[in-house]
Amino acid sequence: MEFKLIKGDPLKLKSNVLVVAKFEEDSVSKTVKKVDEALKGTITRLVDEENFKGELGKLLNVNTIGKTGSDRVLVVGLGKKTDFTPSDLKKVGIAVAKKVKSFASNVNIAMDIEASKLNCQHLITGLILGTYDYNKYKSGNNENNKDTNYNFILSKLSHKDFESSVELGEGIGDATCFTRDLVNEPPDTMTPTKLAETAKKISEENGLECEIFNTVEIRERKMGGLYAVSKGSLQDPRFIHLTYKPKKKAKKTVAIVGKGITFDSGGLCIKPADYMKTMKMDMGGSAVVLGVMKAITLLKPSVNVHALISATENMTGGGAYKPDDVVTAMNGKTMEIVNTDAEGRVVLSDALSFAVELGVDEIVDLATLTGACLVALGTYTAGVMGNDQLVINRVLKAANTVGEKIWQLPMDDELRKDIESDVADVKNVGSRYGGAITAGMFLEHFVDNTPWAHIDIAGPTFIERGGEFYPKGATGFGVQTILQYLMER
Ligand code: BES
Ligand code: MN
Ligand code: ZN
Repeated sequence: MEFKLIKGDPLKLKSNVLVVAKFEEDSVSKTVKKVDEALKGTITRLVDEENFKGELGKLLNVNTIGKTGSDRVLVVGLGKKTDFTPSDLKKVGIAVAKKVKSFASNVNIAMDIEASKLNCQHLITGLILGTYDYNKYKSGNNENNKDTNYNFILSKLSHKDFESSVELGEGIGDATCFTRDLVNEPPDTMTPTKLAETAKKISEENGLECEIFNTVEIRERKMGGLYAVSKGSLQDPRFIHLTYKPKKKAKKTVAIVGKGITFDSGGLCIKPADYMKTMKMDMGGSAVVLGVMKAITLLKPSVNVHALISATENMTGGGAYKPDDVVTAMNGKTMEIVNTDAEGRVVLSDALSFAVELGVDEIVDLATLTGACLVALGTYTAGVMGNDQLVINRVLKAANTVGEKIWQLPMDDELRKDIESDVADVKNVGSRYGGAITAGMFLEHFVDNTPWAHIDIAGPTFIERGGEFYPKGATGFGVQTILQYLMER
């Protein structure tokens, strides 16, 4: 895939597809009007016949029967002008790429939008996201996609600005696709060891500090939660710590923490088959953290960032941790195990304790933590909660800016009694109700007074059927929100 800035008359320039755009309020834009004239009113007629309003990401595909330099004209909806934000262009790019990737090798884009760096950047990210396919393990001809070149006709943008928007747009798109690949990778290869090797590679490529603990070191450091969950698996656990420091001395230090359960069978409280399927996604939080670290040297936020991941399988081997076990987290708090399938919070206890020990200014964790969050908010929206409304607000704002959906769930003092234990400081499961909230309140025990937000990404991490703007399977949800969050610190 290549992106170029070109000059010339969109009607005359040769291509497989010319992409033009329409806001809902407009009858037709400048370029659409010219194309329409060349096609003797075909577009305005089709707009009418097919009742094409120009809703965001909706398409109208017209064959030009040789009347323009392009074989086809694709009119893409930009939605309502009054609601429009630059990140909507990501959705536009996704819709366009999904449509043309199988047949077009040369696409010209003349959308009559403001020729800004940011608009360009989002469009490019969208084109990359829309082209994504996961077919690594399909044998035979798995090149479904043409290697499409996209040519932007934007007379008012300088080449320098265009190049910088390509760099950022590609960096963010590639990081999201990288996270998707990690989550889609089958669990027999995406083991804790593999996750740690991946982290090591990222650190080497980007000049980050990298520290990885094996089983022995995990025990020495008294990471009792991570160790307990790992005992039922033949795979060795890993604790992963990457550090990014900006060139100029930073004022703030942020920890981003990811749940890295490379497969969640439920452990001895084993999941029924239907619920166990797709549980390779349970390292989704850690995949977001690694995707962010892959793009971080490109975006260069001005804060120190510690990336922390607890990685293990949750299995049923003879050494498996059990209901009634009491395990001690790195910060010395004891946890009564009620249900071994609530393992995410148990392994996160140590990663959060570790962040506190580092003395960071704030913590954001991401975890495919609870089915309850999925029940509450559905497949497309993540939940956020925490002990500091300012951190939560910044997460919500970042998500809104990049176009990812996150909704705040309340901490609840009455519900907190659900996780009080008779034998330990806290138990790992409450009642059936408010499961996403009690999970978040469990985590609160391990952040001390550090400002903290927890993002439950159980819904949007993996969408089996795909969505209008998401591929089937892993979505990479969260990468863009966290990158934006760090850029705004
Ligand atoms: N990894 C799951 C949560 C999950 C479910 C993520 C569906 C994505 C999709 C988590 O470890 C889990 O099993 N949670 C249990 C908690 C329960 C035992 C209190 C759940 O949600 O059922
Ligand atoms: Mn589980
Ligand atoms: Zn889990």
